[in-house]
Amino acid sequence: MCGIVGYVGKQKAASIILEGLKRLEYRGYDSAGLCVLQGGRLDVAKKAGRVDVLVKEAAKHHFNGSTGIGHTRWATHGGVTDANAHPHVSSDGKFALIHNGVIENYSGMKKFLIGKGYTFQSETDTEALCNLIAYHYAKEPVVKNGGSRFLESVRKSLRHVEGTYGIAVLCLDCPDEIVAARKASPLVLGVGDQEYIVASDASAIVSHTQSVVYLKDGELVHLTPRTFSITTLDQADVSPVVDKITWTITDADLNGYSHFMEKEIFEQPLALENTMRGRFSEDGSTAQFGGLNLNAAEFRQIDRFLFCACGSAWHACLVAEHLIETFARVPVEVDYASEFRYRNAPLDRNTLCWVISQSGETIDTLAAMREAKRKGHRVLALNNVVGSTIAREADGGIYQHVGPEIGVASTKAFTSQLLLGAMIALYIARMRDMSFSDGAQYVQALKGAPDLVRTALKQAPQIKEIAKRYAKHADFLFLGRLSLFPIALEGALKLKEISYIHAEGYPAAEMKHGPIALITENCPSVFLVPKGDVFNKIVSSMQEIKARKGPIIAIVTEGCELPPGVADDVITIPDCHPAVLPIVATIPVQLLSYYITLERGCDVDKPRNLAKSVTVE
Ligand code: G6P
Repeated sequence: MCGIVGYVGKQKAASIILEGLKRLEYRGYDSAGLCVLQGGRLDVAKKAGRVDVLVKEAAKHHFNGSTGIGHTRWATHGGVTDANAHPHVSSDGKFALIHNGVIENYSGMKKFLIGKGYTFQSETDTEALCNLIAYHYAKEPVVKNGGSRFLESVRKSLRHVEGTYGIAVLCLDCPDEIVAARKASPLVLGVGDQEYIVASDASAIVSHTQSVVYLKDGELVHLTPRTFSITTLDQADVSPVVDKITWTITDADLNGYSHFMEKEIFEQPLALENTMRGRFSEDGSTAQFGGLNLNAAEFRQIDRFLFCACGSAWHACLVAEHLIETFARVPVEVDYASEFRYRNAPLDRNTLCWVISQSGETIDTLAAMREAKRKGHRVLALNNVVGSTIAREADGGIYQHVGPEIGVASTKAFTSQLLLGAMIALYIARMRDMSFSDGAQYVQALKGAPDLVRTALKQAPQIKEIAKRYAKHADFLFLGRLSLFPIALEGALKLKEISYIHAEGYPAAEMKHGPIALITENCPSVFLVPKGDVFNKIVSSMQEIKARKGPIIAIVTEGCELPPGVADDVITIPDCHPAVLPIVATIPVQLLSYYITLERGCDVDKPRNLAKSVTVE
């Protein structure tokens, strides 16, 4: 949801910023811009369109200054136009600003500033903040105790902001300085050798330095080429904690794949190995987690779980619900984070809350977590991005360790969340009624998941052929039951978000209560058909679709005998333990969406209107 990057140092800022923007483009990609402080002016290039469009535009500017800021936008206030692209420059020409977030009270600010003679070029909320900084700077030429007038005018302005922000600001009078700040939008500082990069996430930093400081809400950082200092909105000094990024830039490269989504689908066996590494007990009968900050006796007291998340992570919660209720027999409730935060849900004192978020920055999930904490509940988090806001604010949690996920449509992060859900179910089950030998069997099954996923991935060429035949359709249904119902939802989400085909996920038996009206020979259904109790029931649902001439792709576990003629195409996945089944069944729906999207010529990694990390409401 907008990516920001700023550079101060000895190198030319523009190339570093443009490279950073390419890395951050997954956060938003409707327009991009750059400002370099050079020749006594704030030189701005900005354009609607992708970062590649900006690269061409920037070439006309001969940027050679060593202090600059850049932005890749996902529009909130104001349409996708050159004028609305960031950076914005204050009407007195003194400040340039980039912003990720929403200034909710911008219209009052704007009215006030127009009254003071400031003018506006865009429809954005951001420009109001930029002019407000200019206003405070002009109003107070002298800062007490020899502080920085630039820093203090940003601080003062931010105290008036209602909303969220990750910002970086340039000031014409301070040619090699940047002030950056955050509230609810992520901001990471890369600490180099006499150079600093501030960015929305580490992917824009890691090729320059592995040393980073994760800024906290309400903190401002003041950068010069030689030093940096962090303070709060209340002017308190903050001692920085410098962390090391544990992955390298090659983890964020395509490495021979055509798309990040393709790379991340095929990385899943390794990602799952990394997620479970070191997380089984020595006796091999249960899972163990280092960061829950809750001992086994405390965990044993919990008699209900609440899971909150958005998007694919919400589907992962539904699978966790199924597995925890099945194996541990503890009731679980799953809520959309965006609903939970406002619905004032009753929670009893023995409820433990979990939030799941790949990025650890999704604003609704963050707000749901804060609301649960406000009510005195302990909240644990599953996150992939180390040092993210949710990871830091949670009472404890588990990192996914799958490396950077760049494709906007989640793949490896999703299956890793499924794995962690299965491990949590095991952990709780072993504290209750699951026997040692059942636990040991469960652990062995989880350890086998990466190989089963490798086997499932071998179906890729066949799925590619199937995709060619189905890519022309405008509507799809995805149908599954029990633990595979959430995978049907995930299949439908994957397909619609990247191929723009209308798709719905439904419990297979519920299909006859409405969606069956959509069935014609032009509306295919993807059925998830595992062996087991409901096999015959699912086959009956398939027959109902066939009777109405609906084409069927069946994803079946090995050894399932479908009646002749009930499916037009069959994809076989390995038969496996119920805790692993949702992971393995996800592979074909990911591949199907990916190949259908390729066939339709859509942009797999940057689907229209979407952004990977949604840091606005
Ligand atoms: C966006 C992405 C989805 C993702 C969701 C939640 O909508 O496009 O792929 O599942 O956000 O993201 P999170 O980072 O909280 O898991």
